[in-house]
This record gives sequence, C-alpha cells and structure tokens, in this order.
Amino acid sequence: MRIAQITDTHMRARGELWKGRVDPAATLARLVAALNRIGPDLVVHTGDVADSADREDGAPQYAVAADILSGLKAPLRLLPGNHDTRAGLGAAFGRPGDGFLGFSEEARGLRLVGLDTLEPGRTGGRLCADRLKLLEAVPQGGPVLIFMHHPPCPMGLPFMDGFPFEGGAALARAIAGREVLRIACGHVHADVERHWAGTLVSAAPAASAQLPVDLPAFAESPRGLPAGFTVEPLRIRLHDWDGATLTVKTVMVEAVEGPFPFPP
Ligand SMILES: [Fe+2]
Ligand SMILES: [Fe+2]
Repeated sequence: MRIAQITDTHMRARGELWKGRVDPAATLARLVAALNRIGPDLVVHTGDVADSADREDGAPQYAVAADILSGLKAPLRLLPGNHDTRAGLGAAFGRPGDGFLGFSEEARGLRLVGLDTLEPGRTGGRLCADRLKLLEAVPQGGPVLIFMHHPPCPMGLPFMDGFPFEGGAALARAIAGREVLRIACGHVHADVERHWAGTLVSAAPAASAQLPVDLPAFAESPRGLPAGFTVEPLRIRLHDWDGATLTVKTVMVEAVEGPFPFPP
C-alpha cells in the first residue's frame, strides 16, 4: 500500500500568484498529474490547502483546489493547516460544518490517524482533549501512522519554531506505549525530521515554496519577516507499507534528468 503525502499548496484564486512568484493552481495541477503517474492507493494532503485564513473570500480558493484535486485517481484525505478555514475546506471537500476535520481508518493492518491542529488566529498548531479522542479511540497494539499539519515539537528551525505548538505534552502522553511509526507533517516548508516522544516527527517539503532552514528567529528578522523563500522542484513523499514495514521515500517529480542507463 502506497500513501502519497502532499502539503502546503497554499491555493489562491486561479492565476493569482502566491508571494508574487508561485502559481498554486498550476503547481497543484502538476502535482495531480505526477500523483496519477505514480499511482498511490491514497493521497493525504497535510494542510495549508489554501491561503485563505486571513481573507473573506476563501471559498473560491477551495473551489479551485477541489476542482483540480478532483482529477486525482486515488482517494484523498485532507487536513486543515493554519492558512485554512474549516468551513471553506469542509464545504469544498464534502465535510460541511464546523467540526474538527480529522480521520481514522485502517488499511492492511496499519492505522492511519489524521489530527486537526488548526487553531484559528494562530500560526502555531494546537491539539486539545476533544481532538485527541480520535487517537485515544484506536485500540492498543498495532502500528499507527499519524498525519497532522503542524509538527508537535520544535524542529530546530529558528524561524518556524517561534510559533509554538500547544498540546504537545498531551499528544506525547497519548502515543506513549503505542507503536507510532512516525508523525508526518507539513507546515514548516522544509524537509526536516526530529526524534520526539519515542517516534519520528517528519515534515515534508511544501508544494509551494521552501523556507531556508537557517532563517533567523522572528525577533531577529528585519520587520519580523522571514528573509526569503526558495522555489524548488516539486517533491512528493511516499509512505510504502508492505504489511510489516514502512518505507518512506521522497521523490522529485519534475526537473530531474534521467533515469539514465548505467554504462556497461
Ligand atoms: Fe504552509
Ligand atoms: Fe502552516
């Protein structure tokens, strides 16, 4: 079973550039084409689907995202990020209402749990007792793969670590004694992993722009803004589960030369 993770697409209106440089609709269309070539069994979008939390007109951006993602051959699960609104995301993807947008399902003996870490008005994420019920309801024993937008701990990134996560200690207690293979996240716009609470917290590269890992802390940045971002070739993270072992690969889906045959 192959689960493909994409994250941080930051959809804007069609044709509108993100940060003046990235075309999210065109990027998502390229991602969908790549995913359909790869052929995963499931696609998980770990949030910041759209760039709408600070805008009144968020709904059209979700309509664009939903329209493009409807081209996916594989089933899709989505989690909200801090730039999303639950109302916009839920309405566009068939889960209307103001409730949390998590998921929990089992596939080939692997429990997949998606946790909703959006806290409106905050850049950092939050887990509360209500949201953790989804995880606590999973029977003890058996491997678990958790998806969430925000890493639950600092990631060694001076800039992004300035937006703390609330509820990390409760999550650590909830996974204690369980076989949590990893916590797959997005949000930090960087390919970075950290060992935490007996598991691995792994942030996937963003499908928009990356934040350099050496960005200075917020307080040390001119005007409190990050110094800059980079636009890199699109990458997709693949979680391959063979019924016993999870293998994780990050594949660059374009702007790669080859593969070339080895010379004899
Ligand atoms: Fe993001
Ligand atoms: Fe985010």
